[in-house]
Amino acid sequence: MAEKIRQYWQQRAAESNGDVTATTNDVYLRELEHATVTEALRSFDLPGGATMLDVGCGDGYTTLHVARNLPRFDVTGIDYADAMVELAAQRLADSPDLQQRVRFQQGDATALRQAVGGVRFDVIMTTRCLINLETPDAQHAAIGDIASLLKPGGRYVAVENFVEGQDAMNIARAAVGLPEIPVRWHNLFFREDEFRERAGEHFERVTFHDFASAYYYATRVVYSAMCQVRGEQPDYQHDIHRLAPKLPPFGNFSPIRMVICERGNR
Ligand SMILES: C[S@@+](CC[C@H](N)C(=O)[O-])C[C@H]1O[C@@H](n2cnc3c(N)ncnc32)[C@H](O)[C@@H]1O
Repeated sequence: MAEKIRQYWQQRAAESNGDVTATTNDVYLRELEHATVTEALRSFDLPGGATMLDVGCGDGYTTLHVARNLPRFDVTGIDYADAMVELAAQRLADSPDLQQRVRFQQGDATALRQAVGGVRFDVIMTTRCLINLETPDAQHAAIGDIASLLKPGGRYVAVENFVEGQDAMNIARAAVGLPEIPVRWHNLFFREDEFRERAGEHFERVTFHDFASAYYYATRVVYSAMCQVRGEQPDYQHDIHRLAPKLPPFGNFSPIRMVICERGNR
């Protein structure tokens, strides 16, 4: 199964022709992720030259956004799909201003220490990467490795999917007669309490941020219900997707959450 999932990402990279949908069709949601992650990283107040590792960087679109907006960061992106790494390298080739402090290489989240040669980082990030691992044990082992590769006081920023938000969204959908959105075959969503407990074995503080609830409510409940009434297919390019990131936060309807895990100073 692990190889089938990797092939899925290889194929998405090959079919994307380098456009912005290589890693997700929901491109406005990713803009919201960018803004949220960038703001969080900026709030860490790290020194110039602080190092960041983006695990499962895909086509590098998010990695390069972060590097561009945080000019004091030195950034490494790794992904196990070499076709994704190639796309990321092409994006970097188009951004000569970033080439001194950004690099992409192949590497597996399940063999992270090997992938980075034991180098330690100030920040490690995953955006929708660990949900591709097959078992909770593999996911939590990867989080343990991430913790061990952080410098004292370092942070792990996880933008990953959780069953609690998925369930809340599906309950709201059912209220307006919409079918459940299932978790896709190649994903395994985390459980919030389990994440909190197991990440708590490695980190001093673990805080959840539900940044996309209003977005999901607007697009997956209100807009989807409107499409159903009209007999139309939802479209990720519809104006409601463009406007939804601007809605003020409310509820817990998003499967995607950002979790900030802080390593102690020892
Ligand atoms: C949903 S995409 C997200 C990509 C990128 N982080 C973003 O936000 O656009 C998931 C990425 O994780 C990568 N991935 C999945 N499992 C991985 C693993 N075990 N090691 C490294 N990368 C992995 C996939 O190849 C894919 O590029």
